[in-house]
Amino acid sequence: MRKPIIAGNWKMFKTAAEAASFAKEVSGKAEVEGVESVICAPFTALPALTEALQGTSIQVGAQNFHWEENGAFTGEISGAMLQELGVKYVIIGHSERRAYFAETDETVNKKTLAAFQYDLTPIVCVGEKLEEREAGQTKEVCKEQTVAALKGLSVEQAAQVVIAYEPIWAIGTGKSSTAEDANEVIAYIRELVAEAFDAQTAQSIRIQYGGSVKPNNVKEYMGQSDIDGALVGGASLQADSYIQLVEGAK
Ligand code: G3P
Repeated sequence: MRKPIIAGNWKMFKTAAEAASFAKEVSGKAEVEGVESVICAPFTALPALTEALQGTSIQVGAQNFHWEENGAFTGEISGAMLQELGVKYVIIGHSERRAYFAETDETVNKKTLAAFQYDLTPIVCVGEKLEEREAGQTKEVCKEQTVAALKGLSVEQAAQVVIAYEPIWAIGTGKSSTAEDANEVIAYIRELVAEAFDAQTAQSIRIQYGGSVKPNNVKEYMGQSDIDGALVGGASLQADSYIQLVEGAK
């Protein structure tokens, strides 16, 4: 039985003070038994957020990190630094990082492998662009990205990864994939995991949908056989809507 997981991806929104006040509003509310609730905040808001959420079941995630432990990498943050703050999750390979910050399948794989050294659960993003979708390449793109991201992981590690299928054309556009279409791609990603590892790992790994998920459509996604949760951008920024998303995942 896979535990549903709702993760908010705040992207480049919210200061530390705003994060702390959000945490107060959602404490005790975005906490639903049987649902994992994670907020992925900008680096600068992480200390305030982990502190404000102490004693709650809401977990904190980062949106990126560097795979090396330390070194001359100006502007980067390591897994050890995140771990020290009590961060438990990290988004890897979000399409915005792939598009604007030169993230590649290779760096995604390095980060996915490294996350386990610091007890960080990777939320690995995959998904096709609009042109790829229109050219009928959705599965091919997802296959390439998924297989590359998981390369070299042990079976035990692979089972702990969270994959987020985010069709790029559905991000922040209000155009969401239908629940059935998203489920078909996600079921295919699960098959890929079975091929790369084994059937049990494929049944354990959690795969989210992301792209214009809102309180009013989250249940449709959650009602699908293979969708285990959502990675949510815009709708995770307001406390009341984040609470509804977590409630909707039950
Ligand atoms: O990572 C979540 C994201 O890219 C989806 O964003 O605003 O469409 O929910 P949004």
